[in-house]
Amino acid sequence: MKITAAITGVGSYLPDYILTNEELERTIDTTNEWIMSRSGISERCILKDKDKASAYMAAEAAKQLLSKKGLSPLDIELIIVATVTPDHQYPATANIVADMIGAKNAWGFDIQAACSSFIYALTTASKFIESGAHKKVLVIGSDKMSSIVDFTCRKTAILFGDGAGAVLLEPTTDGTGIIDSRMYSDGSGKKYLYQPAGGSLMPSSIETVTNKEHFVVMDGPAVFKVAVIKMAEVAAEMMERNHLTSDDVAFLVPHQANKRIIEATANRMGVSMDKVMLNIQKYGNTTSATLPLCLAEWEHQLKKGDNLILTTFGAGFTWGGLYLKWSY
Ligand code: UT7
Repeated sequence: MKITAAITGVGSYLPDYILTNEELERTIDTTNEWIMSRSGISERCILKDKDKASAYMAAEAAKQLLSKKGLSPLDIELIIVATVTPDHQYPATANIVADMIGAKNAWGFDIQAACSSFIYALTTASKFIESGAHKKVLVIGSDKMSSIVDFTCRKTAILFGDGAGAVLLEPTTDGTGIIDSRMYSDGSGKKYLYQPAGGSLMPSSIETVTNKEHFVVMDGPAVFKVAVIKMAEVAAEMMERNHLTSDDVAFLVPHQANKRIIEATANRMGVSMDKVMLNIQKYGNTTSATLPLCLAEWEHQLKKGDNLILTTFGAGFTWGGLYLKWSY
């Protein structure tokens, strides 16, 4: 019997501070009406503590998951953290998380593929399960986007939030789990969404800080144009490759970057909005955390055997789709 990687538990963490559209109206030249109609976002959670970042949120999400499952951190063999806002350039956030939760038997590493990081990480993790190499793997998406957003820039300040979500992967032979996935990449899209400074091409300097080059730079309409096509295309591809009709799909689990992109994806799939996991209004775009935050929020509505299509699009460009049969 074929071994597949089943999601057998989920956990999440969201910071307490809620940044509303009304607060943004007071600090930048924007309106609640503009933000809601263009993006669907009403508020987002922000991690205000100066001494806490992505590793902290990832560890909190992992601890919640372990406690729900009644598992010891010593049972975990591998931790993969999806993030674009690692605590440091190195060591990897996964190493720090392992220490924070006491996963002394685990090794780990980070995956960075912008907003596609979580699907890339989930696909990578599934290979360690399918090969028989590991039996308990944590995949965590965590981003403190507030650390790289210029809150004086109305183009980006309204879009992003902080948060983390974690899933546990274990082997199964019952026909559920991760059935299929397809990742894409097109680096020629780099100029439309990126963080100019802080890497080896443009190391941090007084000039890069003065010029605000450590913040997210985005040409919103250029990204939107490609995202709206590619996210829908890859979701439809997942259905076609796996002979699924819209009736077969229990839920679409889309990356939460813009409600209009999500609606276009659902429309292309022929799936009604009541079958779409949508929480962008509360959390904004949490980058690597959007998909596991959806799974954690909808966990109680899911049944064993439910067909889920996960789909994402992000900087790079990167995009991907994943077909998952829910396992519990
Ligand atoms: O997660 C990774 C992938 N990211 C995405 O997929 C994001 C893709 N892009 C988007 O979601 C949308 O492009 C945005 C939500 C970022 C922007 O929506 P848009 O409909 O593309 O608006 P726009 O950038 O074309 O701006 C329209 C107008 C402009 O004014 P003019 O030039 O028409 O006079 C902007 O200056 O709205 C203005 N504008 C704003 N007005 C009020 C831009 N930001 C704001 C703002 N409040 N916050």
